[in-house]
Amino acid sequence: MSEITTQRLDPTPIGLARAADLLSRGGLVAFPTETVYGLGADACNDHAVARIYEAKGRPSFNPLIAHVADVEAAKTLTEWTEAAEAVARAFWPGPLTMVLKKREGSGLSKLLSAGQDTVAVRVPEHPVAQGLLRAFGGPVAAPSANRSGQISPTSAEHVLNGMTGRVEAVVDGGRCQVGLESTIIGLAGRPTLLRPGQIGIDALSETLGTPVFERKDTEAITAPGQLTSHYAPHARVRLNAIEWHPGELRLGFGDVACDLNLSPTEDMTEAAANLFEFLHRLDARQAEVIAVSPIPHVGLGIAINDRLTRAAAPR
Ligand code: TXA
Ligand code: MG
Repeated sequence: MSEITTQRLDPTPIGLARAADLLSRGGLVAFPTETVYGLGADACNDHAVARIYEAKGRPSFNPLIAHVADVEAAKTLTEWTEAAEAVARAFWPGPLTMVLKKREGSGLSKLLSAGQDTVAVRVPEHPVAQGLLRAFGGPVAAPSANRSGQISPTSAEHVLNGMTGRVEAVVDGGRCQVGLESTIIGLAGRPTLLRPGQIGIDALSETLGTPVFERKDTEAITAPGQLTSHYAPHARVRLNAIEWHPGELRLGFGDVACDLNLSPTEDMTEAAANLFEFLHRLDARQAEVIAVSPIPHVGLGIAINDRLTRAAAPR
């Protein structure tokens, strides 16, 4: 990954306009929320979302949260429900994320929700996050702005320590108050606490007028993206294909003849950006087998191979 000059921006109208402009051009901008600093990208831009994983050095595609300025914007991305309405009234804006069914035509990148048909949405309260979301005018994908395996950042210094040279800008909004990531409630099925946070399960149960289930598996709490039922194609997936068999649909990488090519120039960011979209497209053609070229196991290739290995797992 080539070195980028990382700007530190003040949370003034000029700084926020600059940050929004960087986002609209596919840039990465870290910004404060009341929980932790987020590493933001345009949630509708596959390439920008792929860059988040690259900058974090994440070895897998955990689905990301779409941040929006208000409830109205959240409704354009999701299948809104009465439960969602009740939770939004009680806790938004604030440190609470809801997982809902994704709305048809939401425009969100498939990489954002790692190919699933659900999406995590949050309306943060922090005035700088609000200012940026309004200046940008669209959903912003943002995981915590730390390198994978490191501690979530609660100040601009923390972000700069890990992310200098990897993001275009950090909006400096001082220290985060909560310091702990948002509570996540799953509302696509029965109400389930997917990640504990400042807003507790009792308050959520009371708001919904029904008990919220707790995920017992502790691993699911540290890394729900690892365990949730990820998108798997209907077709069988054959990996490391160096030749093609008759009748297979061919998902290529590099200089090969194929049906769809993740990246003819072997650009890992491009390949990651195309991955879920292309798996969906090939699957829609109802092949029995999707054969995939070998992907080098370096950088984002590790996350791509993680995902492909799961897609290829026997089921
Ligand atoms: O406080 C926060 O939530 C911070 C700030 C920046 O908003 N963001 C944050 O993002 O903690 P991240 O990427 O570190 O954690 C998001 C969590 C992941 O564990 C992911 O698995 C889960 O949300 N998640 C996202 N989309 C999901 C979905 N569709 N279904 C289930 N879990 C989902
Ligand atoms: Mg995190």
